[in-house]
Parts: sequence; structure tokens; C-alpha cells
Amino acid sequence: MSDQITIAPSILSADFTRLAEAIELIERGGADYIHVDVMDGHFVPNLTIGPPVIAALKKIATKPLDVHLMIDNVDDTIGWYLDAGADMLTVHAEGTVHLHRVIQRIRAAGASPGVVLNPATPVSSLRDILGDVDMALLMSVNPGFGGQAFIPRVLDKTREVVRLCEELGVVVPTIQIDGGINAETIVPCVAAGARCFVAGNAVFGAADPIAAIAEIRAAGESVLA
Ligand code: DX5
Ligand code: ZN
Repeated sequence: MSDQITIAPSILSADFTRLAEAIELIERGGADYIHVDVMDGHFVPNLTIGPPVIAALKKIATKPLDVHLMIDNVDDTIGWYLDAGADMLTVHAEGTVHLHRVIQRIRAAGASPGVVLNPATPVSSLRDILGDVDMALLMSVNPGFGGQAFIPRVLDKTREVVRLCEELGVVVPTIQIDGGINAETIVPCVAAGARCFVAGNAVFGAADPIAAIAEIRAAGESVLA
């Protein structure tokens, strides 16, 4: 398992009239990835941004775009996000009929595939896909909105992912946690085995987003020191 902590600030909590400035700011603050939350108003009760905006962000971002798809018809539309320039694409196990095929398509297109689980979806559902993904994203809130409270059950699920990989004899994918992450909640997540963290409100809601990224990262790294 990697000893690197990576931080992916979510632009869902940024000022949508100033996305370019938000990206420039978090890149200056050392963000490893730009987390882009795509919501369709069906899979989740919110509607955010889609392929044209991702394509625009791709023109200005110098860090990889980590695109989290919270949409229903992934099987039919995955090509839109690949064409738009997503570098990492995570798809929900609950919203993808042919999950294996979609993961293969993402990899074949040269992007990095990941699978996501909602809080109530068991880790056992990852059994037949864990060996094929670069990232396993565990939701620590119910997807749809930024600024929600961290659900601690994700800690047991993180440990379960590690155990399942060991049992299967596959490399543990990067475990990413998304929802309610801040300098406090990151600590038990790292201890449980997660290494990549999405943070929206804790970064863009802070008076100094650059300092917030540094604090979250330092808190996570302190666990590994
Ligand atoms: C929730 C999104 C998250 C969200 C995280 O549906 O997937 O990426 O932006 O926001 P915070 O860090 O505020 O919980
Ligand atoms: Zn997300």
C-alpha cells in the first residue's frame, strides 16, 4: 500500500462563476487532483456539471481531473466523459449495469478507472472488479451534496477492502474517501488504509483554502510518520 497521501479538492464547493480561479488556487495549494462531481438529477437528487464544462476545465487544469460520475446511464454515456478529457473516472457500482465493460472502456481509452460504493452498498460487491480498477472510492456521505457529515462506518469498509484484496491476492487499489473529510476525519481513514481524499467544504469553505489543503494533508501524513 502506498505511503503517499493525495488530496483531491472538490470544485462542487467552489464559486461556479469562478471555476478557473478555483482550480488555479488549489493547484497552487498543492492539490494532487481536481475532483469533479458530475450529477444528473436522477442517480442523485442534484444536477451539476457535464461534459462541456469538463472539456473547458481540461484546457486550464495542470493536475489530473478526477471525475466522479453520479449518473444513471453510465453505460451509454461514458464516452462523453472520456472525450471531454477526464484523466480518472470513477463510476458507481450501483449505477452501472455492465460495470466490467465500462471499467475496460475507461482503461482502453487511456484513463484511470475507479469504482465507487455508496454508504449502504457492501464491500463484497467489489469482489469481482477489485483486480481491474486503480481506485476504489468509498462514499462517506450519501452522494448529492457537499458539506454533509462524515459517516464513520466507512472506516470498517476501508479495512474490509484491504482484507478482501489480500484474500483475492490482488494489489490493493488506491482507496479514496469522499464526503465530510477534514483535518480530523482524515486521521482514522488513513489508519484504516485509505490514501486519497476528496475535500470540498473543508477546502473551499475555509478562509484560506491553501492552508486548509496543507492542514488536511499534514493530518493524514502524521498517521504514516
Ligand atoms: C458528494 C460529492 C463530494 C462532495 C464532497 O456527493 O461526491 O465529492 O463534493 O464535499 P464535502 O467534502 O464538503 O463533503
Ligand atoms: Zn465526489
